[in-house]
Amino acid sequence: MSETKVIIMDRDETSRVILKDYLSEIEGVQLAAEFVEYDMAFDYAAKNECIAVIDISDNELKAIEVISELNKVNKSAKIVAISNKTSTETIIKTMRAGAKEFITKPITKTQFSDTVRELSNSPQTNSGDNSCKIISTFSNKGGIGKTSIAVNLAVEIAEMTKEKTALLDLNLQLGDVSTFLDLTPSFDVCYVVNNLANIDNTNITNALTRYKNTSLYVIADPINIEQSKEITAEQIKALIFELKKTFSYIIIDVGTNIDAKTTTALDMSDVILLTAIVNLPAVRNIQRCMNLFKKLNYPQEKIKLVLNRYMENEEIKTSDIEEAVHGKVFWKIPNNYLTMMSAINKGVPVSAVSPDANISVNFRDFASKITDYLITQNIKNNSNSGFVL
Ligand SMILES: Nc1ncnc2c1ncn2[C@@H]1O[C@H](COP(=O)(O)OP(=O)(O)OP(=O)(O)O)[C@@H](O)[C@H]1O
Ligand SMILES: [Mg+2]
Repeated sequence: MSETKVIIMDRDETSRVILKDYLSEIEGVQLAAEFVEYDMAFDYAAKNECIAVIDISDNELKAIEVISELNKVNKSAKIVAISNKTSTETIIKTMRAGAKEFITKPITKTQFSDTVRELSNSPQTNSGDNSCKIISTFSNKGGIGKTSIAVNLAVEIAEMTKEKTALLDLNLQLGDVSTFLDLTPSFDVCYVVNNLANIDNTNITNALTRYKNTSLYVIADPINIEQSKEITAEQIKALIFELKKTFSYIIIDVGTNIDAKTTTALDMSDVILLTAIVNLPAVRNIQRCMNLFKKLNYPQEKIKLVLNRYMENEEIKTSDIEEAVHGKVFWKIPNNYLTMMSAINKGVPVSAVSPDANISVNFRDFASKITDYLITQNIKNNSNSGFVL
């Protein structure tokens, strides 16, 4: 078996000597090159399959730019960012740019060896690893705004991160994601699940519907309602698993029916946006959903309460809701019927109708908050990172 190539880009000679020493004791890897200039490290890593260890402390801005570019031109390069001065903001920016790991200096031998070993063994694509994040919008009540949120959030996440983002419509009988984005899909979810064996991760995007010239791809609701009844929870699971290999984010507009397909999608989600509007029945509904999630053994942090169509002078206060449901409100989306309706009628996201409207700004901020949250969670869950946020 050939050895995994590792390059080190670090201006500090002592640091390079230490890392090279650590590297020499790891089986199956070899130092391919060492650099003191970001551009030279980029030139090498852009053309070669390797683990690129990049010290970002020297010129953070430039380093993050290089990581982002590298991540675009060579997906097989596995980037490990290292730094001696770290803020949460830097870590998030670096991970968002495409670094797989972030290690704070001084780096211990165990930290470094574990990281390199793990990356050298991991396959090139995101084969079900934790680099793909799944966000579901859910409510057991209809007409709350799940589709509006899933669509606008997906567009903003794709626009902001430029990462491949999938939007999956699981309203198998009455889906309307493709209508919200004025798309005419060539293939629907039935086609994709029934042909999954013939579609591998290199061509899955061809079977999906791209939204304009963006990195967002839609898996549309079934054209034939009858066929949709035949889709099984196992097929949904296989589809999501397959999508994880190609996409960095998957946003699922989950149906209101609580059946095996719904729970499969919810089980596989990193975050469930439990959506409600502010009124008494909605509060009761949130409680019911929370109880269900408890029975399903979902950790509390997986559930994010989102209040849609929020108005500042609501009779029921946010604090009343939080008290009643024993949970925090994660996000509030303002009520803006005109902009929302105009967007739906035109088949575009709200940002295309009115980029400065409160609701458009809100969705951009929401996309930023949720992706920051997911990146932070990823880092926290990663025992190799060696720092506390
Ligand atoms: N923040 C908002 N401000 C004003 N109107 C909104 C907002 N969010 C959604 N709406 C309106 O609420 C209606 C229902 O929205 P949407 O179709 O997204 O809900 P849903 O939960 O997906 O419904 P269903 O259960 O039927 O799938 C739409 O007419 C939409 O324009
Ligand atoms: Mg809907």
